[in-house]
Amino acid sequence: MARSVLVTGCSRGIGLELVRQLAASPRPPLHIFATCRHPQRPGGKPIRAILHFAFSLADTVNLPSIQGAVQAVGYHLKDQGLNLLINNAGISSHATLHSLDSQEMLDVFATNVVGPLQVVKEFLPLLEQAAKGTGKEGLSCSRASVINISTKLGSIGLCPRVPEAPMYPYRASKAAQNMVTRCLAAELQDKGILCCAIHPGWVKTDMGTEQALLTVEHSVRGILTVLASLSQESSGAFLDWEGNSLPW
Ligand SMILES: NC(=O)c1ccc[n+]([C@@H]2O[C@H](COP(=O)([O-])OP(=O)(O)OC[C@H]3O[C@@H](n4cnc5c(N)ncnc54)[C@H](OP(=O)(O)O)[C@@H]3O)[C@@H](O)[C@H]2O)c1
Repeated sequence: MARSVLVTGCSRGIGLELVRQLAASPRPPLHIFATCRHPQRPGGKPIRAILHFAFSLADTVNLPSIQGAVQAVGYHLKDQGLNLLINNAGISSHATLHSLDSQEMLDVFATNVVGPLQVVKEFLPLLEQAAKGTGKEGLSCSRASVINISTKLGSIGLCPRVPEAPMYPYRASKAAQNMVTRCLAAELQDKGILCCAIHPGWVKTDMGTEQALLTVEHSVRGILTVLASLSQESSGAFLDWEGNSLPW
């Protein structure tokens, strides 16, 4: 699909499975950069087992950490640039109107909105390099793209019909991340970089819990199929793991 892929938040859950399936695919990307904030802790062990080459440390709310990852990735890629950036790292919060406090709201926004945007800002030179260097026309994940892992809980259009608890910090942060995706899609289109938001479904991970409907393998297989199908027309879209369009 792409020569080089970077995924954030790979210690567990959807990020770890994305890297596992990418590495196991019949034609794997030449470079897979699985980033996580504590690679040497037990949580980093599954990635170390999958990938034989270096992975970069990246705490997505820590600018020097992101910049360190950009340097390491740029060094590995030489002058080829980065084709596919998947902003997957995220945190949830079930705070209600009664229980929420401002610090929790700020922490969730820092991870789900500010972090992914900083990651794109810092990796932009590598994405631009890839967009220019592939010799491809149009937009695609094999040329240059940013995929933000979102959720339908962040859809304002679906809000009255989604019965879950308000989850103010989480839902508001993902709605804000969706706006970031739309703005990036509009701004980066002329640079040859595709941007999309993907809802992975309700997935059995630490965040999704065991009650979720989808296994992580099923969700990620769907996400990777959708990514391979994205084109010029899909830039700025909000899609689920089956490729269905969702209202913003
Ligand atoms: N599961 C679902 O049902 C569901 C549904 C819709 C959307 N999503 C979205 O899918 C994405 C992945 O969720 P998941 O279900 O895989 O969650 P998860 O199992 O809780 O895993 C979250 C991952 O994000 C990482 N992370 C959190 N903050 C980070 C930071 N500051 N820097 C780097 N990594 C960080 C975690 O690292 P640590 O191990 O270091 O904490 C972990 O690897 C999230 O964006 C989430 O909002 C999930």
